[in-house]
Amino acid sequence: MGCSVLFVCLGNICRSPLAEAALRAEAKRLGLEVEIDSAGTGDWHIGHPPDHRAAAVALRNGVDISGLRARQVTPKDFRRFDHIVALDGQNLVDLQRMRPADGKAELSLLLDHVEGKEGQAVADPYYGEAEHFDQTWSEVVDGAKSLARKIGGPSR
Ligand code: 4NP
Repeated sequence: MGCSVLFVCLGNICRSPLAEAALRAEAKRLGLEVEIDSAGTGDWHIGHPPDHRAAAVALRNGVDISGLRARQVTPKDFRRFDHIVALDGQNLVDLQRMRPADGKAELSLLLDHVEGKEGQAVADPYYGEAEHFDQTWSEVVDGAKSLARKIGGPSR
């Protein structure tokens, strides 16, 4: 029986769709059964496809995320997912505030799973330059690899 992971950023059009794609790729590579989704704390981009710069960096790395559509995190997500993984500290604070009393999901920061990067944020690239998206990709891949190893157990 696999587990489930929800990645959460602010808009769900840059960082969390990339984290979703990175973990999907890593889980496939390792043959892990894991349900993966992403959402945003904000509502501005509900229904929108990923930012074109995020889609471009994913494609350069062999993953097509153009079919994803942004959604907002809901209280139900805290019951549905085993892990809710925030991309930055503000996302984590917002999640802690909205968590319902019966929410079972374990909350963490993505880079908490990466040795030496605990407590660090995946910086918001939205107002940055194109190179920031390469940095975002590299950070979410590091996070996804560590997370996949944890999910897969000590044998991996
Ligand atoms: P994301 O990036 O949280 O990584 O999806 C952002 C996307 C949109 C906005 C902020 C961050 N925004 O303010 O609209």
